[in-house]
Amino acid sequence: MNQLALISLIVLSSTLCQLGSSLSPGRCPQTTEIDGGLNLSRYLGKWYEIKRTDLIFELGLRCVKTEYTVESNGNVAVNNTGVSLINTQVSVVGTAKPGTQSNVFAVSFFQFSPSAQYWIVDTDYETYSLVVSCNDVLGLFNLKNAWILSRKPNLDSDIVDQLVAKLKAIGVETDKLTTTAQDCGN
Ligand SMILES: *[C@@H]1O[C@H](CO)[C@@H](O)[C@H](O)[C@H]1NC(C)=O
Ligand SMILES: *[C@@H]1O[C@H](CO)[C@@H](O)[C@H](O)[C@H]1NC(C)=O
Repeated sequence: MNQLALISLIVLSSTLCQLGSSLSPGRCPQTTEIDGGLNLSRYLGKWYEIKRTDLIFELGLRCVKTEYTVESNGNVAVNNTGVSLINTQVSVVGTAKPGTQSNVFAVSFFQFSPSAQYWIVDTDYETYSLVVSCNDVLGLFNLKNAWILSRKPNLDSDIVDQLVAKLKAIGVETDKLTTTAQDCGN
């Protein structure tokens, strides 16, 4: 990689960090399986975003929801919707491809774009889901993002606290989490 590319990457990474992604030295943590494996059919459906590390493409978005449906080829279609700062409904559709671990997918939102890791760290299917995406940067750093999702537009604060503690244990800088406003009704 040439120097310019390296500098651009560092600038990009630090911008992402200021926005809330968590950049740490070293490689991504080893993903762990969910007890008994992920039951995808139970995981499908609609989830409300309760907290997130802010990503560029999510800046200012409120009422963010994600809907997962299974495609005939076994991939999972991801439909993220939200309401922008100027009150328009936005949606972005992606694909999650299953990997060797039942709870780790490779998600891409644009054709030919590099895919990002989508690791369902913990879920009880009916109440909450904890998702981490970690990607290695140059083999030197790793960039983590995290989402706390709920089946309802709100989530019990005790559960949120437990999930935040789990994120901390994984090495996510939890002070970078922001709360997503869910004030649009259902
Ligand atoms: C997954 O969940 C569905 C619906 O609750 C259930 O019918 C199915 O047996 C479960 N699959 C496994 C492998 O546990
Ligand atoms: C994504 O969900 C939104 C809101 O439910 C819907 O309007 C849109 O048509 C969906 N997009 C796709 C491709 O299914």
